[in-house]
Amino acid sequence: MTNQSTDNATVQTLDSKKTCTLKVWDGKNWHELDVKRGQILRQALIENELSPHNAITQYINCRGDGVCALCGVRIESEAPEPQQWLDSVTAKFGWRVSCRVPVDRDLTVRLA
Ligand code: FES
Repeated sequence: MTNQSTDNATVQTLDSKKTCTLKVWDGKNWHELDVKRGQILRQALIENELSPHNAITQYINCRGDGVCALCGVRIESEAPEPQQWLDSVTAKFGWRVSCRVPVDRDLTVRLA
């Protein structure tokens, strides 16, 4: 009984966190970011100067409308279930559409 109460308290604490930790590999270095819980992954990356886009797609993309698939990242940790058709398709190939992924938990992400 005591353990169950402790477990419930732990779960409640995690659920009430206002920030989540993003560990991001940019191809050269790991970065650890605290981002607002629920923020869209693409926006969190861009605000921290870690774009999911490359030199070309930073100019040619749908700006987060979820239709171009040019903001793909790999999420190596447990990730939110896809909620949108394009993200569902890319998830089958190991990629996530970062403009469709809310940061609702700590995530480990690899940029292309
Ligand atoms: S920016 Fe186009 S799908 Fe994400």
